[in-house]
Amino acid sequence: MAKVKTVYVCQNCGAESAKWIGKCYSCGEWNSYVEQKLAKESNKSIVFTDSDKLHPLKISEIVSKNEGRILTHIAELDRILGGGLVPGSVILIGGEPGIGKSTLALQVALKLNHLKTLYISGEESPQQIKMRAERIKFKNENCFILGETLLENILIHTQNLQPDILIIDSIQTLYSDKLESSAGTVSQIRETAATLLKFAKTTHTPVFLIGHITKEGSLAGPKVLEHVVDTVLQFEGDQNNLYRILRTTKNRFGSTSELGIFEMGNEGLREVPNPSEVLIAQTDEVLSGTSIASTINGARPLLIEIQALVSSAVYGTPQRSSTGFDNRRLGMLLAVLEKRAGFKLSQKDVFINIAGGIKVDDPATDLAVIASVLSSNLDIPIDKNICFAAEVGLTGEIRPVSRIEQRISEAEKLGFMKIFISRYNSKGVDLKRFKIDIVKVGRVDELFRSLFKK
Ligand code: TYD
Ligand code: MG
Repeated sequence: MAKVKTVYVCQNCGAESAKWIGKCYSCGEWNSYVEQKLAKESNKSIVFTDSDKLHPLKISEIVSKNEGRILTHIAELDRILGGGLVPGSVILIGGEPGIGKSTLALQVALKLNHLKTLYISGEESPQQIKMRAERIKFKNENCFILGETLLENILIHTQNLQPDILIIDSIQTLYSDKLESSAGTVSQIRETAATLLKFAKTTHTPVFLIGHITKEGSLAGPKVLEHVVDTVLQFEGDQNNLYRILRTTKNRFGSTSELGIFEMGNEGLREVPNPSEVLIAQTDEVLSGTSIASTINGARPLLIEIQALVSSAVYGTPQRSSTGFDNRRLGMLLAVLEKRAGFKLSQKDVFINIAGGIKVDDPATDLAVIASVLSSNLDIPIDKNICFAAEVGLTGEIRPVSRIEQRISEAEKLGFMKIFISRYNSKGVDLKRFKIDIVKVGRVDELFRSLFKK
């Protein structure tokens, strides 16, 4: 009888241990180890028939295959993929349930009507998918649907059908009968993803994998998968909001600073080619005391609105209070304005609020905070098309910040016309490629002059 090996696997990060442990040594998560049985595999080794793989080659000897990209004809998606689908690439679409992953995948499958697409659904029945397709209103004779979750069966069907594009909805529902653990566990996800990756690379078929992420981030999968796949797309947006943002967090064939905006309507997802239409819809009044900062949140660029209120202090000591922004940093910025630029704020109450309840600790927010304080103090609004990205130093100088190109391209992408950055931020950066007007400032008083003195 085959010996049954067991191993304990962290359901958060996929680390393995021979015995159960309470706290994961790798990711620090508590109580995340689950016992998993591994059946002894008989046919473990993979035989490659491709002779190229049998011996190492000199890089100069390798013939590059330039197969060209496959356009999905969903412009926002093509762009964030770096110009279409690369043959043989594996793309993970992650996002919370209900965000629209299945809808997007089905739209891709239906739009590519010159190619044979196979949509494997482990979550919904083919009838349910048909109902969604009727809603989306695309017709396609080359789109095949299969309700199956056993990996080995899926491989048989793909061999028979030979699709040009394969879509898996979702990777968490697939399982391989080589492993005894249930679908959705780290070892199943790893196994099925590795097999599908091998399938993609050997047949040059692009494969879309859909993966869920819960609000707590507790569901295994996407974290483990990120290392395996070529591209990771993250679908975001809250369920009450109509807009959906698709971001690349990893891309072996393009930039990761791209983002695509979609709108969920009655007939599926619609592209929003001009994102400022989203922004304008949210803000219709021009008020003093608000400014926009181009920040980086973790790996992502994010434009946020800073609101400031400056008013005369009625009772004794003036108040300085901020929500979402460090209070001590606010105190420092106000002291800089007072000492280095001559603004009399010591008898004023100053309140700062970051709209949307976001917290920021990116130093690049400084310039926008100063701009909104000045705007409120003078009661002169700042144009809605202007944003800011720079740090402010103690001497009143405007300092460079990291990843300035990403901040500028995000602002440009979101439809801003002008961005204020530090004069010292242009070294080694090609600013000419941007269409947005880039204003370089060196000191706080320079910012004041170019913003408010016309
Ligand atoms: P879905 O794509 O199933 O999300 P996921 O696969 O990420 O879980 O559906 C997303 C939501 O969108 C669902 O609540 C129904 C809604 N929806 C529309 O509003 N309009 C449409 O045309 C479609 C197809 C779905
Ligand atoms: Mg779905």
